[in-house]
Amino acid sequence: MNQKNIIKEIKESVCYLTINRPKNLNALNKNTITELSSEIIDANQDVSIRCIVLTGSENKAFVAGADIKEFISFSKSEGEKLARKGQNELFDIVENSSKPIIAAINGFALGGGLELAMACHIRIASDNAKMGLPEVSLGVIPGYGGTQRLAQLVGKGKAMEMITTAIMISANEAKNWGLVNHVCSQEELIEISTKIAKSISKNSPMAVSKAIKCINSGYAFGTEGYEVEKKEFGNCFGTPDFIEGTTAFIEKRKPNFSNIE
Ligand code: CAA
Repeated sequence: MNQKNIIKEIKESVCYLTINRPKNLNALNKNTITELSSEIIDANQDVSIRCIVLTGSENKAFVAGADIKEFISFSKSEGEKLARKGQNELFDIVENSSKPIIAAINGFALGGGLELAMACHIRIASDNAKMGLPEVSLGVIPGYGGTQRLAQLVGKGKAMEMITTAIMISANEAKNWGLVNHVCSQEELIEISTKIAKSISKNSPMAVSKAIKCINSGYAFGTEGYEVEKKEFGNCFGTPDFIEGTTAFIEKRKPNFSNIE
């Protein structure tokens, strides 16, 4: 398939998918979500593929979040629809892929970018990577599953701190927090991801897919949280703080938030 924003390469049993919008730090716009989703569905149907490695193009960003420019003038209902559609169309597909997806985090993984990495099954980061959920600094909240998956990975206390402070953490801090499995240099990132992909490929695809299903089912109690997230994400849109936060980003200045809820 000819994709505008995704580069696909299959080598032996591994499918490499690269998100390719470097001018926008690989931010997830509508097309990229649709294209990535369709590549993952295709890879799941291709019996020659045993594992997927997902990364970002060039060396600055994995994904810097959902595309702020695309949603800046959305209404509350359009905001909720963005979260609902993104989660249904991509993030749930990634998490429930029967073939393991390794996120090779090669730079900034922020907002929707970290949410995408967290939906993957394994995360490897290069030592220049920076991770965070900075949405509250824009007057919005994570809307692609971040409030749920971050707490699952690092625990409720650390998730509360990371989301409410909007801090960015380094790759080594992310490893200490349990957010990524391994840290390496940028030059080694694909090589190490491939090594893990190949060691998965030696095992039974049937058993690997059943193991993923079982591990995920242990977290299914959180489904109500995802629903609340979609609604509250939508409720942020059009508020004075949302307008101020997103406009400040575009104007490259610090936001001046009100104290109105
Ligand atoms: N959406 C759209 N465009 C983005 C973007 C995003 N998330 N992140 C970066 N870009 C664009 C910038 O606007 C800029 O474009 P122009 O050259 O046209 O101005 C280009 O990418 C390069 O970015 P910067 O000039 O900002 O690069 P920098 O090195 O100064 O800063 C950065 C890098 C710290 C990652 C900064 O770009 C940044 O803070 N990005 C936004 C991160 C963010 O807030 N992500 C959360 C988005 S909301 C979300 O994801 C909601 C959700 O859960 C569904």
